[in-house]
Amino acid sequence: MAGEKVHFTKEKETLLITLYGKALESRRPGSLLNDRYANEAIGKIDYDFSRLKVDENLGVGLAIRARRLDDWVRDFLAHNPGATVLHLGCGLDTRIFRIDPPADVRWFDIDYPEVVALRRKLYPARENYLLVPSSVTEQDWLAQIPAGPAMIVAEGLTPYLHAEDGERLFSALVKHFDRGELILDAYSNLGLKLVRLSPSLRATGAELHWAINDPHDLERSVPGLHLIEETTAYEPKHAAHMSSAAKAIIFLWRFIPPLRRIGRLLRYRF
Ligand SMILES: C[S@@+](CC[C@H](N)C(=O)[O-])C[C@H]1O[C@@H](n2cnc3c(N)ncnc32)[C@H](O)[C@@H]1O
Repeated sequence: MAGEKVHFTKEKETLLITLYGKALESRRPGSLLNDRYANEAIGKIDYDFSRLKVDENLGVGLAIRARRLDDWVRDFLAHNPGATVLHLGCGLDTRIFRIDPPADVRWFDIDYPEVVALRRKLYPARENYLLVPSSVTEQDWLAQIPAGPAMIVAEGLTPYLHAEDGERLFSALVKHFDRGELILDAYSNLGLKLVRLSPSLRATGAELHWAINDPHDLERSVPGLHLIEETTAYEPKHAAHMSSAAKAIIFLWRFIPPLRRIGRLLRYRF
């Protein structure tokens, strides 16, 4: 097969799960995400995606998460023209192309150098779009980011960080920017246990560390953050896109609080 050979392992390899899931969902009629860039990207990569065991339900779940985060970014940019967007652990996600922000928005995608090198081969350059090749926890990169209002996105990232590193990173970001929002997906201890059992994650060997059991914990550990919105990652209305088994599970979730808390999307203001 022709294409870019990819030899990622562990947390870097997980970006292929989310890319492939979003591509699968985007091929469905009535797609939520319509991520044609993800679909094109997998065609340019030489990698056996079947080893990740990504099925359509996982793809729909990833699309629901990405769509909600996209909508929060759009909403922020509508109220804060010319703001900065910081996408932490961007992987091969194509949010910049899905949202297609006005040229006065400065957008920074940050991930490990190997990941950024692959992104450069797969996606086109854009005005005011910068790729930052670094671990997010190094933080030297922050000096190059303008201090105005910012939308910070961490999608599929927090479980791979250690809690103390993640809290230090978010605290530095809250201090750096004048004001803004931080949006992320978070998993309880039970959520991380369930994700560890998933065949897709197991195929990569990635380790998970940071569980966020209560969204208010982050307000306490990162002064300045205020929770303004919280949704469970799967709501019954989304089940319409899933299999009958997944529909039944999502229906039952409503009645079992620990299950409702296993995965959520959180929106903070600072
Ligand atoms: C599950 S993937 C999610 C990718 C993308 N955000 C998405 O939703 O499609 C996890 C991503 O986090 C990145 N990541 C994990 N730890 C990181 C760190 N310390 N610094 C930079 N990126 C990191 C990985 O390289 C990978 O791209």
